[in-house]
Amino acid sequence: MRILITGGSGFVGSLLCQRLHEKGHELLVVSRNPGRAQAKLPPRTEIRPEIHNFAENQPEAIVNLAGDSIAEGRWSEAKKQRLIDSRIETTNALVELCGQLKQPPRCLISGSAMGYYGDRGDEEITEQSPAGNEFIAELCQQWESAAQQAEDYGVRVALVRIGLVLDRDGGSLAKMLPAFKMGLGGTLGSGKQYMPWIHREDLIRLIVFLLENEKLGGAFNASAPNPVTNAEFTRALAAKLSRPAILPVPELALKLIFGEMSRVLLTGAKMKPQRLQESGFEFKYPELEQALSEIFDKQTA
Ligand SMILES: NC(=O)c1ccc[n+]([C@@H]2O[C@H](COP(=O)([O-])OP(=O)(O)OC[C@H]3O[C@@H](n4cnc5c(N)ncnc54)[C@H](OP(=O)(O)O)[C@@H]3O)[C@@H](O)[C@H]2O)c1
Repeated sequence: MRILITGGSGFVGSLLCQRLHEKGHELLVVSRNPGRAQAKLPPRTEIRPEIHNFAENQPEAIVNLAGDSIAEGRWSEAKKQRLIDSRIETTNALVELCGQLKQPPRCLISGSAMGYYGDRGDEEITEQSPAGNEFIAELCQQWESAAQQAEDYGVRVALVRIGLVLDRDGGSLAKMLPAFKMGLGGTLGSGKQYMPWIHREDLIRLIVFLLENEKLGGAFNASAPNPVTNAEFTRALAAKLSRPAILPVPELALKLIFGEMSRVLLTGAKMKPQRLQESGFEFKYPELEQALSEIFDKQTA
């Protein structure tokens, strides 16, 4: 298939492109910096700076992963606008492209995040659970609504509400590792907040599963079936690294340092991938210990 990917140069997108290339797909990647993106992408990937640059290429499927980084720095008004624009404008442009193509793509697999559900304590969350009402929850709703407009052109739309993506060379784990390796890791706030997580390899596998399964549309929780609390995650990571993790980071300190962005660290939802499991998707790494072992054993191999 000829597949158009936004965010293809990112932590998730670059591994997705590698896997799709290995499966023999033709890749069209949108990147603001094609030169820089090229180094991260498989040979023969067509890279262009704007979505409409691909109007002549007739993509048969689209994967939408572009977006300014959510868990990075304080959320000034300008940063919040960037978080919104980088997702909504990109998604609107993809829908516009679907309307321009002689033959619309078969599907649009579009990113979203666990933040869709907001702060939900230990309530079990499935795709039927209602959305939250804070900034990220509203952003995710707007992002999903924008993607769903592609259905007007007969495109199958699948929305992936992604949990914390784990792998060695990027994402949140790479940010946590220096402190944990020095024995300075610790729970964030109460540690009771849920952290739905997913091994990057499983996220790529499920995106491919959604690309290939013509009947699957709507929202899918993209996280492992066994979510853990922040305290459980902290214990598991420290144990894997054979380091203590006895220095909790107080809620107030995180609020002072990160402002509103601290919500991402201090709140969560016990998200379960109900629809993926009902659809027959099998996680390779359903348990956190397994995922961490794979990641760290691979690192030292
Ligand atoms: N990683 C996670 O744990 C996680 C969890 C939940 C949801 N997600 C979502 O999944 C998607 C992929 O995540 P990721 O970890 O791969 O993200 P990432 O590594 O930060 O990559 C995101 C990509 O989006 C593009 N981008 C960044 N800022 C942009 C802007 N202002 N305007 C347009 N494009 C921009 C970049 O491509 P170029 O620089 O090449 O243009 C970048 O490669 C993101 O939308 C993220 O919010 C990720």
